[in-house]
Amino acid sequence: MGWLDGQVALVTGGGSGIGRAVVARFIAEGARVGVLDRVPGRAEELRAEFGDAVVAVTGDVAQLADNKRAVAETVAEFGRLGIFVGNAGVFDNFLSLAEFPEEMLSEACDELFGVNVKGCILGAKAALPELLKADGSMVFTASVAGSNSGGGGPLYTASKHAVVGLIRRRAGRHHHRSARTFASGPRPPLAIRRSQYGGAAAGQQSAADRAGARRSRRRLRISVVAD
Ligand SMILES: NC(=O)c1ccc[n+]([C@@H]2O[C@H](COP(=O)([O-])OP(=O)(O)OC[C@H]3O[C@@H](n4cnc5c(N)ncnc54)[C@H](O)[C@@H]3O)[C@@H](O)[C@H]2O)c1
Repeated sequence: MGWLDGQVALVTGGGSGIGRAVVARFIAEGARVGVLDRVPGRAEELRAEFGDAVVAVTGDVAQLADNKRAVAETVAEFGRLGIFVGNAGVFDNFLSLAEFPEEMLSEACDELFGVNVKGCILGAKAALPELLKADGSMVFTASVAGSNSGGGGPLYTASKHAVVGLIRRRAGRHHHRSARTFASGPRPPLAIRRSQYGGAAAGQQSAADRAGARRSRRRLRISVVAD
């Protein structure tokens, strides 16, 4: 018997990385899982790996219509939705404002905030009616960058602070309702972060940033925000 027997989840960005690991673990624990990911072809990959336990929708978390379609297809396939995982995110590769090419900055802000912040808000909005019916939960993949300066460049750090703000705000607004909201801050080993995000940049964190990041990790691990 798994921890999630009978549960149905929707994971954004479930086509790779942390989101895919969440999908695999949820299914191993007995859940059925919908995935919203923008990369075409991921739906077939997920079907091949997880069979009927998954339904995957190709779309963009920054579009409300795509989030609503993912909720609708998950409910059509599995009958309900009890867990929403707002996980899709993009990184800024630790680029400082000084390093950021001026002609790319506005577009980069739009993309990064569109995915990391607006994507969480629109996904939460789309999932909320089903979560309230199911006495469900929302989980957001935040980051150590959600409460500290050492987890990314200024764009990413600002976006993850906004995600933590969203979680706190939802906690305040819905304490009387049954949709719970949680934050999680993954922290893979440095070697993985270096290979993913570029070794030199990751290695350039100051000692103060690293110490702050350690403190933030301790806080984020216990940041179950609302019930
Ligand atoms: N990897 C880390 O070290 C780390 C640390 C802290 C937080 N995070 C956070 O964890 C989450 C997942 O990161 P990851 O490292 O697994 O990244 P990843 O790039 O491996 O996976 C992200 C997934 O999201 C999807 N995606 C991106 N933009 C999308 C969009 N607009 N619409 C739909 N899907 C979209 C991608 O296609 C991909 O499948 C992100 O929110 C990230 O900020 C990662």
